[in-house]
Amino acid sequence: MNQHVLVIGAGGGIGKEVVAQLCDDTKVGTVHCVSRSELSKINDKQISYAFDSTDSDKVKEFIADISSQGIRFSKVICTTGVLHTSGDMALKPEKRLEDISSEQLTEYFRVNTIVPALWLKFLVKVMAKEGASITFFSARVGSISENGLGGWYGYRASKAALNMIVKTASIEYKRRSANTALACYHPGTVDTNLSKPFQSNVKPGKLFTSQFTVSQLLSIIDKFDTEQSPYYIDWEGKKISY
Ligand SMILES: NC(=O)c1ccc[n+]([C@@H]2O[C@H](COP(=O)([O-])OP(=O)(O)OC[C@H]3O[C@@H](n4cnc5c(N)ncnc54)[C@H](OP(=O)(O)O)[C@@H]3O)[C@@H](O)[C@H]2O)c1
Repeated sequence: MNQHVLVIGAGGGIGKEVVAQLCDDTKVGTVHCVSRSELSKINDKQISYAFDSTDSDKVKEFIADISSQGIRFSKVICTTGVLHTSGDMALKPEKRLEDISSEQLTEYFRVNTIVPALWLKFLVKVMAKEGASITFFSARVGSISENGLGGWYGYRASKAALNMIVKTASIEYKRRSANTALACYHPGTVDTNLSKPFQSNVKPGKLFTSQFTVSQLLSIIDKFDTEQSPYYIDWEGKKISY
């Protein structure tokens, strides 16, 4: 097999592991990796592209280039997401109403919602004709019905909006790219920079490695059925309610 697969956000804690496991997969011929940073090469299957997906023109140019080469993606996995940052314009998940700011909300939506929406816009023309899928890393905290704890206004709302973008796009994909399943995936709490400040609240045995959650995801993707699309599921393959 010689599948082309695409990993967006390939430089993150989970993204790097997605690349490693796909490079090791015998069904996969080429792993196209998009990241803002230069990536080290795992093997000859890997092709890296350094650009920032928040720039719509860059995404458009990349897809035009892929399309001109006649490449069609069997699998796309987008791990892009932000919860906190450091520095001058540091992002910090809100604990109370007083913490809400328009700058912070804008940044959550820019990275967590708008980047996936732009990719969905352009990918529709370059998906494989059979058994294709596009998976976005979402989060259980983006479930409106399961929100019993509150807080994290921007992160929660931007992931809920991501879920809605994927749900809405799935209706159009059924017409325009009928054999592409769309999914939002909750990886569990995973030991990466993103979860570092919050790991002390995690129950014993519930802090996963990237290796674990990525191998769970890849085995779940192989069972996707386009009739069931879109999926909003967790690392066990269990449905999450919106
Ligand atoms: N870790 C967890 O416990 C956990 C739990 C639930 C959901 N998730 C979700 O899982 C996904 C992966 O998380 P992770 O733990 O691997 O976090 P991470 O190590 O911080 O990686 C985040 C990724 O998002 C991209 N990104 C971050 N800020 C960006 C910005 N300003 N502009 C463009 N791209 C940006 C980065 O892509 P580059 O390659 O371009 O740097 C990076 O790959 C996220 O969507 C996150 O919300 C994680």
